[in-house]
Amino acid sequence: MPNASFGSLNAAGLVLDSAYQNISKKEWQDLIELAQKASIADRINDMFSGKIFNRSERRPVLHTALRNCSKNPIFVEGKNVMPEIEVVWQRIQSLCNEWDGVTDVIHIGIGGSVFGPQLAVQALANLPGINSREMRMHFAVNIDGEELTQIFRQAKPASTRVIIVSKTFSTTETLMNAKAVVSWLKSNGCSNKQLQGALLAVTANPTAAQLFGITSDHIFPFWDWVGGRFSVWSAVGLCIALQYGFETFMSFLKGAEAIDRHFQETPIEKNVPILMALALLHQQKKYSSTAYAVIPYANALSLFPFWLQQLEMESHGKGVGCGDIPIQNSSPVVFGSVGTNSQHSYFQLLHQGAEIIPVDFIAVGEPMSDIPEAVDHHRILLANCLAQAQALSCGKTSEIPNESYPGNKPSNLIILPKLDAFHLGALLALYESRTVALGILWGINSFDQPGVELGKQLSVPIDSALKNGADIDQSQFDSITSDRIAYLKPYF
Ligand code: F6P
Repeated sequence: MPNASFGSLNAAGLVLDSAYQNISKKEWQDLIELAQKASIADRINDMFSGKIFNRSERRPVLHTALRNCSKNPIFVEGKNVMPEIEVVWQRIQSLCNEWDGVTDVIHIGIGGSVFGPQLAVQALANLPGINSREMRMHFAVNIDGEELTQIFRQAKPASTRVIIVSKTFSTTETLMNAKAVVSWLKSNGCSNKQLQGALLAVTANPTAAQLFGITSDHIFPFWDWVGGRFSVWSAVGLCIALQYGFETFMSFLKGAEAIDRHFQETPIEKNVPILMALALLHQQKKYSSTAYAVIPYANALSLFPFWLQQLEMESHGKGVGCGDIPIQNSSPVVFGSVGTNSQHSYFQLLHQGAEIIPVDFIAVGEPMSDIPEAVDHHRILLANCLAQAQALSCGKTSEIPNESYPGNKPSNLIILPKLDAFHLGALLALYESRTVALGILWGINSFDQPGVELGKQLSVPIDSALKNGADIDQSQFDSITSDRIAYLKPYF
């Protein structure tokens, strides 16, 4: 059973302690049976072996091939995909050796095309022992031009390189930001030839990238069997290699690969991502929890909750499962931020709020700072992490209701021995695998996101109506949106 002895649940060096989940031996047995009934091991093998796993889009799900550093063949429609992946690795390595004198890199992308890369670049930035290149890495994400204003203030146009990252190469925010960056380079004296040298694309739609004006030797491909939110392991993560070197990028992939081996080969009773999925499922059902919190006690992981929000809620925010079966209460609302900061924000709700909100605490063994006081700071950081989990679970009785803590609030503790590229890769892959496991258990296709389309489509006629001079075609909008357009129209 989980946690027979502390540390026994270990995947790629990451330890899961689920003792505060308060799940009885019998309940664990039932959960493990549930996983067996869902044929979870077979389904996981189906995914790894390239079978159609994203059923609505009729595609395999093979982000795992991108971190298959041992290069075992993986076949899609009879073709081994590893040689193409290796070519991309070689191209990334060559680029890392070429970019001397570059002062600024602007990574343009949104959603899955930025969450993972930005998280990794930020997480590794200040860690002891990580060598970083002397270049500023900027992320242009939002269509709000304020972000580009900031970047243009800092970057030196003559020595700036631009990576446009978009699986579809059709995302409005990314393409508009890319056009604005091209204009900025041109207006700062960049010739057409220099521009060609400065622009790169990472995409599964190379034709669109070429039409945008990117030369074919500057386009890094990836494939439709890589979901956007699982794409950091492809050339989407190029910025990680450029900033920290190719070896560090490979180490990131190897950490993820180690989790893949664990996920595929470990029996359910000791399979960390499956047990995490089962525990979350159990708490959701038992307490009708609609929210779930992830709290990394590591400043370097401040973007982790945002990355996880997309991973989990874009994958499972669905009311209909495979076979069009209605699903109640699939994805909880995922939220979180770093400890101890979060303790001074919403922890009151976790401790004494009426709803039970399961928590994952993430802690790191080695200090992540090199200030003289690093060890003392780190010890107190971890003491707080342990204390919050203890308070949530054990509670405190008092005759004054307002001062009593009910306790019995479930949490996991995940411990990384240290934060480096390998263990960061492992952490991300651990949660990706948990997402895969949850999808199997819920019977949801975790790999499409039809719900985000409607808002995108509706923004097009609204944009036209906002444009100065254009008449508002009332028949296209409901009355509330019409009124809002009329109010905001004078600004354009
Ligand atoms: O938000 C929807 C979405 O399709 C995400 O799934 C994806 O990560 C993001 O948009 C960006 O898409 P692309 O990489 O195609 O620009």
